[in-house]
Amino acid sequence: MEPTVHLTQEQIDFYHREGYLALPSISTSEELEWMRNAYDRIFAEKAGRDEGNQFDLAGTDDENKTATLPQILNPSKYAPELKEGLFRVNGLHIAKQLLGSYAFAMGDHAIYKPAKYGAETPWHQDEAYWNPMMTYNSFSLWLPLQEASLENGCMWFVPRSHNGEVKPHHCINNDPRIHGLEIDEADTSMAVACPIPAGGCTIHTNRTLHYAGANRSEVPRRAIILGFGTHAVSRQEPRVFYWNDAKQTPREERAKAAATQG
Ligand code: NI
Repeated sequence: MEPTVHLTQEQIDFYHREGYLALPSISTSEELEWMRNAYDRIFAEKAGRDEGNQFDLAGTDDENKTATLPQILNPSKYAPELKEGLFRVNGLHIAKQLLGSYAFAMGDHAIYKPAKYGAETPWHQDEAYWNPMMTYNSFSLWLPLQEASLENGCMWFVPRSHNGEVKPHHCINNDPRIHGLEIDEADTSMAVACPIPAGGCTIHTNRTLHYAGANRSEVPRRAIILGFGTHAVSRQEPRVFYWNDAKQTPREERAKAAATQG
């Protein structure tokens, strides 16, 4: 399969200068249809829950409590059809244009915002979740499987926020049982909303400050996120992300229990 999306120099420059980019289409309507089916299936089956790979990103994730922001890490493990497709071919091609020819596909995850009550994703930098001992050169490609609008929770970015360091974060509601992070303080007055059609995508660097609104619409908001990057390298100057050290999430407990059971 050959890529169908080739970035212009203007788009490449925009990404590096502003820290994000929106593209109108990297997939097809046929592909989106089977992806939606796979996506709905694995959320309905609670795929990965026992391994700690499906959980509520914005809540305490208790058993029998409705998740307001369900997330699946590594969804293509549970729906292998998601491992291939035009969206991935285009994603990798874009990554090589933005990050260099050594860029490769990293992980994937899926964030689902149920109709009418899907929670907002608070302002954060993705790198705040990661290993503080490493330096990253990467981006997240956010692909909605239906239109992403202001009403259903499209992405927002603070232009040029990728130029600074990773700022202090805390667990949502300051509750260490919650996996999701929120930045302590940020100026979001210049934030830009990026509504895009189904099968379009937004791209943001590992440091770009971003947010997605709640889903107030009548339809679910489904998004798949693909990571791309070059190999992370060890940092000369170590950092401490104390907000992650403080976490004690049910997700982690399930992951540990699954690992010891082999
Ligand atoms: Ni994020």
